[in-house]
Amino acid sequence: MQLSDSFGRKFYYLRLSITDVCNFKCEYCLPNGYQHDKKNCFLSLDEIRRTVAAFASVGTEKIRITGGEPALRKDLTQIIAMISEIAPIKKIAMTTNGYNLAKNAQQWYDAGLNQINISVDSLNPNSFNKITGVNRFDQVMKGIDKALSVGFDKIKINSVLIKNFNDHELGLFLEFIRIRPIEMRFIELMECGDTNTFFEQYHSSGDLIKRQLEGSGWQLEEKAKDDGPALVYSHPGYLGKIGLIMPYSKDFCTTCNRLRVSSLGKMHLCLFGDYGTDIRHLLQRDDQQSQLVSLLHDSVATKEVSHYLHQGNTGQTPHLASIGG
Ligand code: 5AD
Ligand code: SF4
Repeated sequence: MQLSDSFGRKFYYLRLSITDVCNFKCEYCLPNGYQHDKKNCFLSLDEIRRTVAAFASVGTEKIRITGGEPALRKDLTQIIAMISEIAPIKKIAMTTNGYNLAKNAQQWYDAGLNQINISVDSLNPNSFNKITGVNRFDQVMKGIDKALSVGFDKIKINSVLIKNFNDHELGLFLEFIRIRPIEMRFIELMECGDTNTFFEQYHSSGDLIKRQLEGSGWQLEEKAKDDGPALVYSHPGYLGKIGLIMPYSKDFCTTCNRLRVSSLGKMHLCLFGDYGTDIRHLLQRDDQQSQLVSLLHDSVATKEVSHYLHQGNTGQTPHLASIGG
């Protein structure tokens, strides 16, 4: 039976975090870098297999591997290959900061990865290095070139909109995607527990970009069933597309089709405001699958209609590295 909630939303899409660790220090996420202070033990290959198998049995068709930085896991290629063998998963996507993409894109693709999202907050090398806290702009750009040559079904670039920092860079990004089949996604900064002062200072609405696009011939596309809440625009003069993710806009949550599992085995119904349901105890043996599926159904039935971010509710989410963006 398809996983669905009491508002009629169906869940085809699982975002699965495989580690909290990250080697970048993005100002809005981990400004002081990842703190290795806890002895965290992230989901094992078998636990990941059981998670994906249970979700697949209740209609999940797409898995996104996230982190932290998923490419820091040494068994990443094995994880991709293992997920690609679980029917009926049709798409495997991954979100990465791109630090070792040039080296590994081919092997990930060969293992079964179909789509890749790379985070690039600025195409200006100095700004990129400043916001991420690491000097890796060139490395990430080489990774994008490699990803383009490998043949992924979809490549997206994620850019978090930051006031007076990159919200005036639309022209640069548009130039970049004129000849590259990349979806450029602008994500409005979201308020998280650890970074709320940054949020207050730098949040910038996607409305400005929306108006600029609509005034210059970009057309809003229709959504496919496994598309998320992004508004996607295309233009005949460009190979690439633009996606806008505006979590503070009205009705953002009505098209929610995703669930999340953290790298410690908690299922989250929303990025914000929920403690997560522990599912790890039901990931220990293959014969626990039916119990796990019942827990998924019971838990999803309690999903709330919205994230209540407007009321400043950041819930239990200290930063997105802890739950997988
Ligand atoms: N608001 C919006 N996007 C964020 N990301 C990380 N933290 C935030 C935040 N507070 C983005 C990253 C990456 C994706 C996984 O989530 O830039 O592209
Ligand atoms: Fe790492 Fe992504 Fe957070 Fe940047 S936004 S610190 S790349 S987890």
